Amino acid sequence: MDYKDGAIEKREQLYEGKAKKVYATNDERFYIVSYKDDATAFNGQKKGTIVGKGVVNNRMSNFMMRLLEQEGVPTHFVEQLSDRETVVHRVEIVPLEVIVRNIAAGSLSQRLGLEEGTPLSCPVLEFCYKNDDLGDPMINNFHIYAMQLATREELAQIEEYAFKVNAFLQKRCAMAGVTLVDFKIEFGRDLSGRIILADEISPDTCRFWDSETGEKLDKDRFRRNLGGVEDAYAEIRRRLMGEE
Ligand code: TMP
Ligand code: ASP
Repeated sequence: MDYKDGAIEKREQLYEGKAKKVYATNDERFYIVSYKDDATAFNGQKKGTIVGKGVVNNRMSNFMMRLLEQEGVPTHFVEQLSDRETVVHRVEIVPLEVIVRNIAAGSLSQRLGLEEGTPLSCPVLEFCYKNDDLGDPMINNFHIYAMQLATREELAQIEEYAFKVNAFLQKRCAMAGVTLVDFKIEFGRDLSGRIILADEISPDTCRFWDSETGEKLDKDRFRRNLGGVEDAYAEIRRRLMGEE
């Protein structure tokens, strides 16, 4: 890839999501994402701000994606421009939330009546259809084929990458005294049609529990009004990235 350091300039805003903005650039192969401190939960019904969240999420996503590339998972990451802004490969997002769970929590606990914290005997892969109007309903692979959200080949690739991301993140978390409960990732098709990891990997999109105390070090502190949200983001940044 002939990406030249410093040669990418921000152009018009293409999209504003709940946590990020996406900009076109002077090069059609690249976008710039900008991470906000805005926080929402329950499909946007709860709104707030987590001071400094955009910085943590930008830096942590880039940190993890750089390492995942070395593990054989292609990602959209190109270059971090600043604390909140990153150059990424332009992709068309596959409209799926890909969730991997190691321990029962959140909506799985509610749906299946499993107490939060119950270990799952093997990782569970779930898909939700990314559609805010419908509240991101859970779907299975047959819905995905029938609605032509992804081909069989693409979904096989997505599954392989999702489990690789899980194995990598579990290992990384264990080194830092953190239990990876579950997480959500998204994939995109790059300009050549290849499936690559996109969106973010952050305390907004993962459940991280302190391995000793079980303390929540992620966005559940915001979702559930537990307090100490900023401190939890700072703590997980320090543990997983060694940054103060
Ligand atoms: P859930 O238990 O609420 O379904 O969440 C599973 C995981 O997905 C958890 O790590 C939080 C993450 N997640 C998102 O990143 N975005 C969302 O909109 C939701 C509902 C969950
Ligand atoms: N950010 C998501 C929303 O507002 C939900 C979540 O992360 O819990 O829909």
